[in-house]
Amino acid sequence: MLAVDHGYFQGPTTGLERIDINILPLVQHADTLMLTRGILRSIVPSSVSQSIVLRVSGGTSILKELSNEEIAVDMEDSIRLNVCAMAVQVFIGGEYERQSIINMTKMVDIGTRYGIPTLAVTAVGKDMTRDARYFRLATRICAELGAHYIKTYYIEDGFETVTASCPVPIVMAGGKKLPELDALTMAYRAVQEGASGVDMGRNIFQSESPAAMIQAVKAVVHDNETPEKAFELYTTVKNE
Ligand code: R5P
Repeated sequence: MLAVDHGYFQGPTTGLERIDINILPLVQHADTLMLTRGILRSIVPSSVSQSIVLRVSGGTSILKELSNEEIAVDMEDSIRLNVCAMAVQVFIGGEYERQSIINMTKMVDIGTRYGIPTLAVTAVGKDMTRDARYFRLATRICAELGAHYIKTYYIEDGFETVTASCPVPIVMAGGKKLPELDALTMAYRAVQEGASGVDMGRNIFQSESPAAMIQAVKAVVHDNETPEKAFELYTTVKNE
C-alpha cells in the first residue's frame, strides 16, 4: 500500500507537493493507494485500477491537538468512490482517545452494512514510548473493538509479539524517512515477523528514486526478497 494521505493534517508534505507529477507514475507498482477523497477526486484518473483505502477521519492540523478527530467523510461518498477500505486514526493514550476509538467503532458499524472494512491506524503521540507493550495494547484494543485490519509502526524489539497478540492482519506503517537499505530491512523484518503487508509513504516518495524504492519494497513484500537483494534492485532501477 502506497500512503499519500499525509496532507489531511500537514498540508503539502515534502514529496507530495505535486501528486500528479511525482506520485501517479508510482501507482502502477502498488497494490493499493491510501489517500484522501480530495486527492482521489482531483488528481487520480478513473483509469487507475488499484484498490483505494480512503482516509475518513480528520478535522485537525499539525497546529492543533491531533487526536481531536472526527469522522470527516460520509459513508455514501466512500461507496460512491468505490473504496475497498476506510482508514480511521486511533489515538490510544492520546488526549481524545475515547473520541478516536468511537470514530473507529462507528465506521466499523456503518461500513459493515455495506461490506466495506475499516483499517484502524494506531497514531502514537509525541510523549508515548514506541515499544512492544504500547503497540500490543493499541492494536489489540482496535481489534477487540472490531477493526478489520490495523496499521502500526515497526519496532526492533518484540514486533512479533504485537502481530501474535493481534487477531486481525497487521500492516506496517513506514514512518520517517530512513536510508533506503534501512527502510527495506524494516519492511523485510516486519513481514517476516508477522505483518501481512506494508503501507509506506515517506520512505518511498522522499527517496532519491521513488520509482526504484517502491519496486524494491514490492520485492520484499511479494517475493520475500532479502533487504540486500532488494537494495540491489533499488540501485539498478535508480541508475537505469
Ligand atoms: C499518516 O498519518 C498516515 O496515516 C500515513 O498514511 C502513514 O503514516 C504512512 O505513511 P509513512 O510511511 O510516511 O509513515
